[in-house]
Amino acid sequence: MTGERIEELISQLTLQEKADMVHGNGLFSTKGVERLGIPPFITSDGPMGVRKDFNKDVWREIGLSYDRVSYLPSNTALAATWNRELAYRTGQILGKEARGRGKDMILAPGINIMRNPRCGRSFEYMGEDPYLTSELVVPLVKGIEENDVSACVKHFALNNQETKRLEVDVEVSERALREIYLPAFEAAVKKGKTKGIMGAYNKLRGSHCCHNDYLLNKILRDEWGFEGIVVSDWGGVHDTKEALMNGLDMEMSVTDNFDEYYLANPLLKMIESGEIDRELAVEKLDEKVRHILHVMNELHMLDGERKSGTYNDYRDKEALRQTARESVVLLKNDDNILPLDKKKIKKLLVIGENANRCHAPGGGSAEIKALYEITPLMGINMLLGGNTQIVYKPGYYNEDVGNIWANVGNDENGQADSLNASPEPERKLADDEKIKRQREKNDEYAAEALEAARDADAVIFVGGLTHDYDTEGQDREDLKLPYGQDEFISKLLDIRPDTVVIMQTGSPVDMSAWVDKAKALICSWYAGMEGGVALAEVIFGEVNPSGRLPETFPVSDKDCPAVVLGEFPGGDSVNYGEGIFVGYRYYDTYDVKTAFPFGYGLSYTEFVMTGLSARVVECTRENKLVEVTFNISNIGGRAGAQVAQIYVADKLPKVKKAAKELKAFEKVWLEAGETKQVKVELREDAFAYYDEESGGFKVDSGNYMILLAKSAEEVVDVADVTLSV
Ligand code: BGC
Repeated sequence: MTGERIEELISQLTLQEKADMVHGNGLFSTKGVERLGIPPFITSDGPMGVRKDFNKDVWREIGLSYDRVSYLPSNTALAATWNRELAYRTGQILGKEARGRGKDMILAPGINIMRNPRCGRSFEYMGEDPYLTSELVVPLVKGIEENDVSACVKHFALNNQETKRLEVDVEVSERALREIYLPAFEAAVKKGKTKGIMGAYNKLRGSHCCHNDYLLNKILRDEWGFEGIVVSDWGGVHDTKEALMNGLDMEMSVTDNFDEYYLANPLLKMIESGEIDRELAVEKLDEKVRHILHVMNELHMLDGERKSGTYNDYRDKEALRQTARESVVLLKNDDNILPLDKKKIKKLLVIGENANRCHAPGGGSAEIKALYEITPLMGINMLLGGNTQIVYKPGYYNEDVGNIWANVGNDENGQADSLNASPEPERKLADDEKIKRQREKNDEYAAEALEAARDADAVIFVGGLTHDYDTEGQDREDLKLPYGQDEFISKLLDIRPDTVVIMQTGSPVDMSAWVDKAKALICSWYAGMEGGVALAEVIFGEVNPSGRLPETFPVSDKDCPAVVLGEFPGGDSVNYGEGIFVGYRYYDTYDVKTAFPFGYGLSYTEFVMTGLSARVVECTRENKLVEVTFNISNIGGRAGAQVAQIYVADKLPKVKKAAKELKAFEKVWLEAGETKQVKVELREDAFAYYDEESGGFKVDSGNYMILLAKSAEEVVDVADVTLSV
């Protein structure tokens, strides 16, 4: 359909019909205009797969027997793979399933930067670094949209906490906004060509992000040229005039009074009463309708052949499993305890409630009604087969069965409840009764597990967090492990220092109570339906781990820059006083010890990286190109992958800069004994910073160090380049 045809359609629409297209007429859809062949626009959560279907006007699941879907690895798991190809494959599957379930827009991916690991939704995002997030969101969005489905990159912007998420007002420097919080959105728009963006609940500088003139009109539309649909977060609109004028296209919410939404009758009344200039209002409304029709057209919703998609395609299982495999991060392997040799184990003890828990149904709007979910315990059983006796003991007690999200408030309307409830973490173990029961049960479970640990040939512990903590609607109080795990793990390691400890978590946890005693330590995430198999394959050496942390694990949450230099979670407003010093940019520059740094992860083989050289190929005002080459060798005994990380540091910065910043990475697969030469290119943005005075990015002349590294804390080689701009 041509632009002309779209204009023709717009000219045929009545004011009422236009209003119908720009606000929800169901909890997840708008109204179409049947007489003109314009269908309703149907959206669905979310980032880990297509959510179950809800009633049109009551926040209650319909209870279909056929809305079970693939449960995809969370974005944190995906980010831990550092693999662009897997991001693309994951997107393809998500898009295909969304289309297969008849959706027009999938409300994903979430790409807010992890400002503080305590943020309850960290598991939905891709960690703490704008470059890593940008590199992964682009193929992810492309993969989704290949299926005639729109992505909806969220939450734009600065939705970095759940506490007071609906109203908190963010104060952030322009430089931090531009260097840390916006680049991944910009990449999703300019390179990923996303057709959808979701406004965030919170405010920026006093104005709600869903109708924020600066964010939506000035940056998203004028600067980045976005022509797609801006959808509000559900219930994120607060003002008709602002919603009309400030770049929003579609208002969605959580209640069934659809005609009373800000962009419904209130808008029409405002126009009729002359409270707003009619011509201007129509012009603005037309803009919204134009964006919607433009996207509908691109998705072949108005004419032509639209892809039909499918879901639960068995052929996608391998890609889901591969992503889960590559997301596993090996944190410690003293005495080469891992991989375990299955032939030597007659009796295996598996401990930990997470070994036996399905996580798919939790987390908030990212919940999934999974076709299946292979838990670690099942994965281990599947892998070992009949020759090993596998004993399972929970070890600690978790009373919070299921998902706090659905348990908050007064009815099954999890979403609306969370919008109304103030996030108080205390509510989880509110009554003394519960705490008492937890203690008693913990003692009983611990005693049983510790007893069993004495004579097992090998012990695997799977603990960490659950979606009672990694969840929408609330932040964590600290990074401590729940359910008395610290005490238990400590005792277990005293008896069995060779225990393989697995932290299954969506965000960093504080392991300081026992980490020095652990010899074998793995971080696994909410890794989707194949997660348990992938983890078992790593434990028993069928897969060589290649994940790297997409976020720093601080020693304690007290070390976190958002707390030390800024505020978290703040009050009615929150000051991002740490500026650009987020994640490793802070720990590195301020020399703060971490538990495990950004980019970190071990392998069962060993790599050396040598021969770094960097050459300025072009340096003009318009273009900069530095070519970086180096060699990677696998000097160990088995095939594996190294994630080579290139950081850039300004030797004599004119403004305060981070000690170094990630500007390129390459995941390289090598057979045992193999060497490969790797070449990466650094362009303008690898050297630029946001200059508040001139209001733009700027590269200063001078000397820069190009650092070849295994993690933010392990630089293996340095090369110098000089740029004269
Ligand atoms: C969440 C969004 C989600 C929407 C629809 C909101 O509460 O913040 O991420 O897409 O609900 O369920």
